[in-house]
Amino acid sequence: MCGIVGYVGPRPSQDILLAGLARLEYRGYDSAGIAVIDESGELGMRKKAGKLKELRDSLATAALGDGTTGIGHTRWATHGGPTDVNAHPHLADDDRLAVIHNGIIENFAALRDELAAEGVTFRSETDTEVAAALLGREYRRTGDLQQAFRDVVNRLEGAFTLLAMHKDHPGLVVGARRNSPLVIGLGEGENFLGSDVAAFVEHTRKALAIGQDQIVAITPSEVTVTDFDGNPVEAAPFDVSWDAAAAEKGGWSSFMAKEVAEQPEAVGNTIRGRIKDGQVVIPELDGMDELFTGIRRVIITACGTASYAALVGKYAIEQWARVPVDVELAHEFRYRDPVIGDDTLVVSISQSGETMDTLMAVKYARERGARTLSICNTQGATIPRESDAVVYTHAGPEVAVASTKAFSAQITALLLLGLHMGRVRATLSDASAEVAELAALPEKIATVLSEEHDHVEQLAHWMADTRSVLFLGRHVGFPIALEGALKLKEISYIHAEGFAAGELKHGPIALIEPGQPVFVIVPSPRHSALIHSKVVSNIQEIRARGARVIVVAEEGDAAVLPYADEVIRIPLAGAMFEPVLAVVPLQIFAMALATAKGLDVDQPRNLAKSVTVE
Ligand code: G6P
Repeated sequence: MCGIVGYVGPRPSQDILLAGLARLEYRGYDSAGIAVIDESGELGMRKKAGKLKELRDSLATAALGDGTTGIGHTRWATHGGPTDVNAHPHLADDDRLAVIHNGIIENFAALRDELAAEGVTFRSETDTEVAAALLGREYRRTGDLQQAFRDVVNRLEGAFTLLAMHKDHPGLVVGARRNSPLVIGLGEGENFLGSDVAAFVEHTRKALAIGQDQIVAITPSEVTVTDFDGNPVEAAPFDVSWDAAAAEKGGWSSFMAKEVAEQPEAVGNTIRGRIKDGQVVIPELDGMDELFTGIRRVIITACGTASYAALVGKYAIEQWARVPVDVELAHEFRYRDPVIGDDTLVVSISQSGETMDTLMAVKYARERGARTLSICNTQGATIPRESDAVVYTHAGPEVAVASTKAFSAQITALLLLGLHMGRVRATLSDASAEVAELAALPEKIATVLSEEHDHVEQLAHWMADTRSVLFLGRHVGFPIALEGALKLKEISYIHAEGFAAGELKHGPIALIEPGQPVFVIVPSPRHSALIHSKVVSNIQEIRARGARVIVVAEEGDAAVLPYADEVIRIPLAGAMFEPVLAVVPLQIFAMALATAKGLDVDQPRNLAKSVTVE
């Protein structure tokens, strides 16, 4: 939700900022802007509504010059629509000062009134311009940019990452963060700031994580980090484990296509190093057995796609670790006075590690004395830093807004966690069959990709005019039905709903009319003949009412054949492992249908990948 980049060094900053913004565009893409200061202290600024291309085109016509200090922003609008004027940067102090911001300043109306009473006029409808004006006033009062910046951030309420620079101070960018992300990139004679490491990974893989309520100042040769009172603090160094090429499209038609195809690797990398002597042993959880033994319940909290991975985790953890598991949407969790305490383990799942709703749920859980563990794909992100323990997914950078490889890696991490907990809690004496299933999973995903890709793509082309699609599943197939529907909504803008197959007769069956396409995720009869037969009955019920039935079923399941218009096959797998396979054709379907409609699958309308506002 808004991408931020800052640069100081010897090189002209314009192209560095634009390249950083291109990598951060997944965070928001309704407008973009940059500001640069050159050696002589000239400040240039350009901002444009629309995708980054609009800004690029404008700068190609008239560049901003070779200023070597700069800040850049790509926006997902909160206060004020996506217009040129509301785009960032915002200027103040007679256009001598530029500010960019990610987040929401909750007390902006009071601050705006205070400044307006002093005669300040505003050009935009944004909360950011209020922060810029406040900084202008404090700078005029103190003559010290860093002192003024401290005074300002101490007056702001809400969530913010704020970067600022002033033409009196070429070679200096100041930044602060509260509940929004900011990381530092350490170069040779140059330094960077970014919403995440993607902003600067092309230039350096050495980074520093900044904690909550901290301020950073970068010059070409120095980085200083303090708290909001100006006391020095030590920032945690880390190395970025992937290189710039991993975040490139590399010949694929879209990032989503690339990321769908990368799932065998994402799952394989998430498993790697976590199986020892035929058992699941997660090294990051070494010495933390108490986190799992002294608990009476688990709550998994997440948003969007991650919450559907959580639902699969519920089945697996309950089965293997014999502890009750609830799944809570993070934005509901903390508003209903949940019964939690030190006997509760709250597991959060977040690809970005920055989703504000999830972060707030984790903080709330900690305040209530719960133990916290996060499953996250992004190093140095806030949610793992706020948790007692973290299990990283190793899916690599996910750029497309609609999550795919992160989802399969999240389920994989939950399966690992369930098996780890089962071992530690002594509820699972022999996990050899599950460990073998895990090891075989990457290869099986590769099989689905190679055997079903063209078939599903063809199906999507035939269905390009479809206006509504339903998805049904039972047991762990239910979350996959929800995820299949979400993928379709997100990128093809088609009405889609996922239902528990057993719920069909309680209402949704009224939606079935002749020709209504329905995907059904059919669980293997080898795991439970009962569950399988129930789903086959559900298929018959909708088929009898004219539905067009597309089933996702394991190889050799002949029971579905008489009732299916289309059959998509997945390899045989253990019950808990099927979801990782069954979701793949649904991802391909959504992507192909969106493509057939001529839509941008990587940057769907109205969405952002990392939602850092509540
Ligand atoms: C946004 C994205 C979704 C994602 C959700 C949770 O809504 O558009 O794709 O599933 O946030 O994101 P997280 O980074 O916490 O997994």
